[in-house]
This record gives sequence, structure tokens and C-alpha cells, in this order.
Amino acid sequence: MLALRLTFTLLLVRLCGARPSSHARRDLRVHAYRNVVPAGFADVGPASPDQTLTLRLALAQSDPKGLIDALYRVSDPASPTYRHWLSKEQVAQFVAPKAEAAEAVNAWLEENGLSATSSSAAGDWISFQVPVNKANELFGAEYNVYVHQESGTQVVRTLSYSLPASLQPHIDLVHPTISFPDIKLESSTTQAKRFIDDVPERLIKPAHANSTVCSQGTTPACVQELYNIPAAPVRNNVTLGVSVFYGNEPHYAYLTTFLENYRTDVDASKTNYTFVGWDGGVDTQNPFATAEGDLDIQYTVGVATGAYVTSYQEGGNVTDGVSGFLDEALFLNALDDSELPQVLSTSYAHFENNWDFDVTDKICQAYAQLGARGSTLVFATGDAGAGCDFITNTTDFGPNFPASCPYITAVGGTSGYYPEVGWTGSSGGFSNYFARPWYQDTAVSAYLDKISGTDPNAGRYNASGRGFPDLALKADNYTVYDAGYWLHVFGTSASCPVFASMITLLNDRLISAGKPTVGFLNPWLYSEGSKVFTDVTAGSSSIRCSDDDPLRVLNATEGWDPVTGLGTPDFDRLLDAFGLCSSVSN
Ligand SMILES: *[C@@H]1O[C@H](CO)[C@@H](O)[C@H](O)[C@H]1NC(C)=O
Ligand SMILES: *[C@@H]1O[C@H](CO)[C@@H](O)[C@H](O)[C@H]1NC(C)=O
Ligand SMILES: *[C@@H]1O[C@H](CO)[C@@H](O)[C@H](O)[C@H]1NC(C)=O
Ligand SMILES: *[C@@H]1O[C@H](CO)[C@@H](O)[C@H](O)[C@H]1NC(C)=O
Ligand SMILES: *[C@@H]1O[C@H](CO)[C@@H](O)[C@H](O)[C@H]1NC(C)=O
Ligand SMILES: *[C@@H]1O[C@H](CO)[C@@H](O)[C@H](O)[C@H]1NC(C)=O
Ligand SMILES: *[C@@H]1O[C@H](CO)[C@@H](O)[C@H](O)[C@H]1NC(C)=O
Ligand SMILES: *[C@@H]1O[C@H](CO)[C@@H](O)[C@H](O)[C@H]1NC(C)=O
Repeated sequence: MLALRLTFTLLLVRLCGARPSSHARRDLRVHAYRNVVPAGFADVGPASPDQTLTLRLALAQSDPKGLIDALYRVSDPASPTYRHWLSKEQVAQFVAPKAEAAEAVNAWLEENGLSATSSSAAGDWISFQVPVNKANELFGAEYNVYVHQESGTQVVRTLSYSLPASLQPHIDLVHPTISFPDIKLESSTTQAKRFIDDVPERLIKPAHANSTVCSQGTTPACVQELYNIPAAPVRNNVTLGVSVFYGNEPHYAYLTTFLENYRTDVDASKTNYTFVGWDGGVDTQNPFATAEGDLDIQYTVGVATGAYVTSYQEGGNVTDGVSGFLDEALFLNALDDSELPQVLSTSYAHFENNWDFDVTDKICQAYAQLGARGSTLVFATGDAGAGCDFITNTTDFGPNFPASCPYITAVGGTSGYYPEVGWTGSSGGFSNYFARPWYQDTAVSAYLDKISGTDPNAGRYNASGRGFPDLALKADNYTVYDAGYWLHVFGTSASCPVFASMITLLNDRLISAGKPTVGFLNPWLYSEGSKVFTDVTAGSSSIRCSDDDPLRVLNATEGWDPVTGLGTPDFDRLLDAFGLCSSVSN
């Protein structure tokens, strides 16, 4: 997992009025601010007054709560409309801006000689261009240039912004303002090197899948055996998307070599994935891209046999200030229902508190929109156990987003086999931004009750937050082919595509049986699903954040735990749970 580990050390505060900026006009109200410049960035003075900024503005939506209710109505097994997915148009009715919000904001922009264009399918995001001096005046802001010292990257940001009081109910946020971007601290090639350094050995001669399964490294045959995943190809055109960020693109030729060695039962010359770019994404087949893209494609195409796998690749036009996560979500929400992937696997995460709550919440809600339309979103939790809080530098845990979003399924890691135990890197814990969702009440409360009174970590995490991961799969020793080498790769980055592939194969069986696909899994997972997962009860995650930091240990336990969630999946038991007969062969 290429978790974005940033060195932001700042206090990020959500605002409730107060603290007017020095530029504020009488009717401006501070909407959000940061106390200090994020660590790693230096303020090099005011931005040029006539530099053009492209700002995005999120308008108040028609019925944001209604969207979440609608998501649960289609994903809760107890609901009469379970798995009756909404259409793109139905979702848009909830998230389209309130008419009065659009009117008021447009009138205000016009008054100020600005014109906006819609930048999301439902029209809830608009963008407009404005010179720095005008933006400072309109938003009581102080747009300065901040240089990221290590990389030299320059960004124009303000530490505070305001909205006219009359517009405050109509605008959820203005962006980019106080959220600083994740900087690619490492180039692709140094990341590739890191992967190789992580690997205990290179496989010069690949072991064949039929030699002792799993003892030769984690391969498609190994995960097929562990989780009862069928090798037979799908019968329907089931779709599985893979998110590709930071230029970590996969390669066609490496996939072919991988399949020729580890899926000798499929015709590698006829097995492929499809490229789709967003934000100007181009398929360059850059041979120096890291192993992440190849891992993600080799363990989707190589496990979800015959599925239609799409690599959704970021391009050079990412200007969302949050590493492309916002843009990818908006891109997917703009796809027609027939183009929306039934399952999306994303092997990226970043420290939750690095981005402003408002932006993080919008991205999480964009995932809820996709879930309401029937897409199963699966995210890796990260590889740093309980995580480090780089904002406070305290011994507080550092939860990861998007794993912490309650509207996605978060996949942690195990290691070994027969039995699997919690993987030492498996990221998990509790969100500081998102409250525990209702579907977790029983499972997560049981865990908290169990450790209550004896928890050595008490006070280091927000026990009322959304707990993660939801489940876990093997995360160690995956065999991947990349740039001429066989690598052994570790991480929840590997667990995530394998689980996404299992859901894709389950979707295929459901479609054959005339049933709807699984969609947003969590309400099912924590009710009926909890009975069919294999509980992982041994092993622990651990991380030390600095030399004098106490080791942060979390244990896998009976029932849900923040290392392995509810446990590991089993394909036959998934079939049974969805009312399909596991003895029927494909
Ligand atoms: C946090 O710790 C790092 C490394 O020890 C240090 O460089 C940084 O200044 C600290 N930040 C804060 C806010 O204390
Ligand atoms: C094991 O793999 C080798 C090499 O691919 C193959 O020749 C052999 O037939 C396989 N044996 C079994 C039992 O599948
Ligand atoms: C990884 O797999 C190799 C065989 O390919 C094996 O020798 C090694 O012990 C495995 N390492 C771990 C940590 O499982
Ligand atoms: C997969 O698709 C790419 C792009 O169209 C193509 O260059 C490559 O040869 C294909 N590989 C196989 C095995 O079909
Ligand atoms: C980025 O967007 C601009 C303006 O739309 C376009 O001209 C340019 O080709 C794009 N760049 C890439 C890499 O797609
Ligand atoms: C399968 O679905 C994808 C995505 O909707 C579509 O582009 C493709 O043409 C379909 N393939 C077949 C064989 O129908
Ligand atoms: C703890 O989580 C709750 C629920 O998400 C949130 O309202 C609260 O602000 C969080 N507290 C801290 C200190 O992060
Ligand atoms: C984890 O288990 C060990 C050994 O049983 C125990 O000493 C430790 O307190 C446990 N840690 C937590 C966080 O429960």
C-alpha cells in the first residue's frame, strides 16, 4: 500500500463563527481556517494579485441526508428495497443544488463579474476563475504562495476564508483554500525501489502454481485455495474497476507474463484489462512505474477470471488539491449507469486529518452516491497499524481515509495460512471525522466493552468513530511481476483487489441466478455477513512512530477487531449467504 505519509504538523480546526480575518468585510463570516502552515511548507509571501485561481465551490445540496437514507434503504438486508439500486438521475435528485442556493450564488458571482461552470454531474460543484486579489476580497482570504521545501512544489493557499453571511447556508465549502495537497514526496522510481527493498528475495525462477500452494509465496492459486475462490471464468460481463493514482500504472506485458506463469489454466493472449483515463490520464506504459499498479491489475485480472477489468488512471490535470480522490469520485459519479463499475478496488490511503473535514466529508458522500447506484467500493486500509498522528505529534493514533469513510468497505490484512493471523502492518482503528455508523454498533461496541478497563491504548483514539477495517485477507508475500523482476509484495494493497475480485465473481453468480449484484456491503456484512466470515483471533498490528514513541499494538481478538475486522471471507459461504447453491459448478 502506498499510503501517503505526509509530514503535516498543524492544527486543523473546524470553524463555528468567530475569528474574523483582517480583510473581512462587515458581512463576511469566517467559514474555516487553519492555525499554522502545514509542516514541510514555507510561506514565501502573497500570491501575485493578478494570478488566476480556479476555485471550486460546493453548493448546498437538495437533500444530503436523504441520499444517505436512500443508500441504507438499498443496502440494509432488512429493507424491503434491499439491492434495488438507484439510477444516476435518482441520486442527482438528492445531491443537485437547492434551487435557491444555485440562484443566490450565481447572482453573487454575476454581481462580481464572474461566471461559473458546473463541474459535477448533478451540478452541486461549480468552478470559476478569479484573480488572486479578487478572491482575497470576496472570501476575506489571504492567498499566499507556499513552497513545499523538499519537492519545490508551489501551491497558492489561504489559511482562512469567509463567506458573506447571506450565502453561508448556500455554500458548503470553497476549495482549494485551507486544504494543502499531498505532495509526491517520492518519485515513482524511488517508490519502486522501496517496494524492491521490502521484498525478502527476488524470485528468479517463478514457482509454479501447483507446487505446494502458499508455501511458494502468495499467488492466485494460493488465494483460490484459502478462500475457495473458483478458477472457472465468469459467464456474464461483470465489471471490476481498479483506481490508479500517482502514475502507478499497470502494464499489459507484465500482466501477460504473470498469467503465463501463475494462471496456466487461462489463455493469457486473450486476457487483458481496459484503460480509462480521468483528468487527462494517458496510457504511457511507463516501464518505471511502481509495482502498485501491476499488483492491483495482476490480482484482479488474475483472480476474477474473465471479468471486465478497467484501470481508471489519473492524468496530469489533477487540480483538486487532494491528490485526485475528489476528481476520481466526481468522474465516476458522472458515468452513466451502464458504465459504472459494479466493483471498484482502491489500494490507496492517506492520513485522515491532513485534509479539511469539509472536503473529506464531500469525498465520502460521493462514495455514498456510487454505493446507492449499486457499486461496491473496496479500499485498502493502509500498512501502518494504528497509524501516527502527524498533526499533534502526540501518541494519538492516526486513522486513514478513505478507509474511515462509513460508506465504503475497508480491507485490512492477515499473514500466514492455516490459520491466518493479524498482519503486523494492517491499518485499523477509529475515525476522528466520521461517527460510528449504526450497522457497526453491535460488533464494535462488543470489542470496546471487551477491552474496556484493560486497554493499554485507552485515550489514544476516538472510540465513538467509525471502526475499521471491516474484514481482512492475506497481505503477505504476494508474487508480482514488474519490470523484469518477480517481486514479493506485502500490504493491504494486495488484500483489497483479491476481495474485490471475490465480490465480482459473486456478482457473476447472482446475475446468472437472476438476482441483483451485491452493492454497498457493510449493513449486510455486520448482520448476516458476520456469520460467514472466518474470525481471525490471533496476531496483532504494531507500529512505532518515533524513537521515543511507545509501540502501538492492536490485537486481533474474537469478533470484530481493528486489525482484521470481522475476519476473512470464504466464497462458498458467501454464495450460501446470498441464497446461491455453492455446489453448482460454473
Ligand atoms: C513533530 O515531530 C517532528 C519529528 O520529531 C518534528 O520535526 C516536528 O517539529 C514536530 N511537530 C510538532 C507540531 O510538534
Ligand atoms: C504442475 O505444473 C507443471 C508446470 O506447469 C505441469 O507440467 C504439471 O502438469 C503440473 N501438475 C499438475 C498435477 O497440475
Ligand atoms: C515468501 O515466499 C517464499 C517462496 O516464494 C518463501 O521462501 C518465503 O518464506 C515466504 N516469506 C514469507 C514471509 O512468507
Ligand atoms: C491488451 O491491450 C493493449 C491495449 O489495447 C494491447 O496493447 C495489448 O497487446 C493487449 N494484450 C493482450 C494480451 O491482449
Ligand atoms: C489538461 O487540460 C487542458 C485544458 O483542458 C488541456 O489543454 C490539456 O491537454 C490537458 N492535459 C492533459 C495531460 O490532459
Ligand atoms: C462489458 O461491459 C463493458 C462496460 O460496460 C463494456 O464496455 C463492454 O463492451 C462489455 N463487453 C461485452 C462483451 O459486452
Ligand atoms: C470523535 O468522533 C466524533 C464522532 O465522529 C466527533 O464528533 C469528534 O469530534 C471526535 N473527537 C475528536 C477529538 O476527534
Ligand atoms: C495484546 O495482547 C497482549 C498479549 O496477550 C497483551 O499483553 C496486550 O495488553 C494486548 N494489547 C491490547 C491493546 O489489547
